[in-house]
Amino acid sequence: YLIMWKSSRLIVRLINFLNLPKMHKKMATKDKLFELLSSNADEFISGQIIADELKLSRNSIWKGITSLKKDGYIIESKPHIGYRLAGESNLLSKEIIIKDLRVPCTVEVHNTVTSTNDMAKKKAMSHKPIVLIANRQSNGRGRLGRSFESPGGTGLYLTIALKPGFSLEKSLYVTMAAAVSVCRAIEKVCDRNPQINGKNPQIKWVNDIFIENKKVCGILTEAQTNFETGQIDSLIIGIGVNCFPGNLPNELKEIAGSISEKTGSFSRNRLAAEIINETLKSLDRIEDKSFLTEYKSRCFILGHEIKVHPQYDKSGIPAKALDIAEDGGLIVEYIDGTKKGETETLHTGEISIRLTR
Ligand code: BTN
Repeated sequence: YLIMWKSSRLIVRLINFLNLPKMHKKMATKDKLFELLSSNADEFISGQIIADELKLSRNSIWKGITSLKKDGYIIESKPHIGYRLAGESNLLSKEIIIKDLRVPCTVEVHNTVTSTNDMAKKKAMSHKPIVLIANRQSNGRGRLGRSFESPGGTGLYLTIALKPGFSLEKSLYVTMAAAVSVCRAIEKVCDRNPQINGKNPQIKWVNDIFIENKKVCGILTEAQTNFETGQIDSLIIGIGVNCFPGNLPNELKEIAGSISEKTGSFSRNRLAAEIINETLKSLDRIEDKSFLTEYKSRCFILGHEIKVHPQYDKSGIPAKALDIAEDGGLIVEYIDGTKKGETETLHTGEISIRLTR
């Protein structure tokens, strides 16, 4: 009777799985496998059932499982029984994330996407935010046309997309408010976790989050605007967080860090939920600029010497970071070059800055 009851539950889940949108047909083997295993989380599924349902050879299944393991998923296999997705803390799950949400929004969780920002641009936007979350990105994008390394299993790649009620001039504030929100979310998740407490996330203007002198998060905000009304049709806030040490290229290892050195020491699901809660709360209050004081106190470059890099200027101009202006710009005083002694307010998009160590 128990076996019949268990099999009927499995059949119901398989039916649910098969009712998922047609996009499964175009998905990579490992993503199809991930959908099947995660819709049956905690239960073993036999290799034969997987092979029949996904119309795959046993060899392709084995390759897909190996690839998911490389993405950081913990998959148990038992001879003659099958495969099971385990390790809740390291598995991104929509069900777990929405349990911790305190704000209305629609959430989608994917294993691999090209870029959550690009995916968001194809969605029909409404005032109810859509949140797209991925375990891995194959074409993650950063600021100034750069790419953003997005390895699986160790990071969190998340885009919040919505049609906001405010105008274009507020868009610089959005990135700043999101940066403060991510810092708060990191602190909440680390708080009272003996393995990682005491983390002090700080901001490098305008949108990089650092812990212990290494970048752990970048934010790319994009907007589609309506020229006639001056309103933003869609606002796309892409947040990439290195949670645990990941498979990054050597040239990034010097500058990129992670929130925790110990993989699985906190739940990426909880962090995703807190980032969504804090960011949407801040966006609701963007007009009153209440995030600005906290932004300044977390912005560790103020008072320090930096290098201002106008686009395509590799050498950079030495300057001192003085303050954050009311409009969110960075006020600097040049200490060398043709503008020596002059102050200027820099705005995002035009420049990047580097710390002088
Ligand atoms: C940067 O540091 O230059 C910004 C990085 C932004 C990365 C995030 S990850 C989620 C979203 N999708 C993307 O392709 N980019 C953003």
